Amino acid sequence: MSNRFNNEIFEQLTWQVESGADELIEEESQNRLETETPLSDDSNRQPANKVSNNVDSELNISEKIAQSNSYNILTPNEICSTCNSIKELASAIEAYKGCSLHRTATNTVVFDGNPKAKLMIIGEAPGAEEDRSGRPFVGNAGKLLDRMLAAIDLNRNDCYITNILYWRPPGNRTPTTDEINLCKPFVKRQIEIVDPSVIILAGGISAKALLDRPEGITRLRGKWYQISTSAKLKPKYAIAMFHPAYLLRQPQAKREAWEDLQEVRKKLAITS
Ligand code: URA
Repeated sequence: MSNRFNNEIFEQLTWQVESGADELIEEESQNRLETETPLSDDSNRQPANKVSNNVDSELNISEKIAQSNSYNILTPNEICSTCNSIKELASAIEAYKGCSLHRTATNTVVFDGNPKAKLMIIGEAPGAEEDRSGRPFVGNAGKLLDRMLAAIDLNRNDCYITNILYWRPPGNRTPTTDEINLCKPFVKRQIEIVDPSVIILAGGISAKALLDRPEGITRLRGKWYQISTSAKLKPKYAIAMFHPAYLLRQPQAKREAWEDLQEVRKKLAITS
């Protein structure tokens, strides 16, 4: 009897997971990955809901609480206007609770790489691996991105890597227009502060969000656009490319990605 009961539960759960219901969403996020006793190979893991790159470790607790309180009533644009460095902005994004995705995420994922880089790469949103580690593009798509960069003699230290969203959408679902619009000021402020010469918009979500155009990535990719964030800064050259996750699913599209990477290499050589 109890075996039959267990089998039924197992089958029901399997059916739910296969249908995509693989997240348990609660009002407050619970980090079930964190154990009381650190696991032996865990020295690199960040504590739950800590921003990547340890940018917040230098802020004392009262600063953090003050930030959290005020950031809950400020809009992203107002928050951005108070941040003049990537460190400040990353802490502010972590403290921001206006995007409900933070409730189901383990970590806030802001950036990786070099805030002084000439090349900025903007993806879509953290996936499962990124949510666990607190760093963007560390899963399979990230590994392909690393190989794509190596093909034009670059590595992560030559780029600043971020996303449109800073919390993983449950089950990796497509971000909603509201979530994208809510988070957009944060990526625009990153562009202003990093001030790169060239931007890669990786995938349709990133390209559509920052180019404000309705076309899909197949039409947008491979062309140069200009992104203006403020009157004070010169516009940035931006190219839309297929997302590395798409290239993993559709390897035949790597030919176009290769052409786009050559464009990036040429543009980097002629821009300061
Ligand atoms: N896909 C993205 O767009 N960003 C990541 O950080 C990881 C996967």
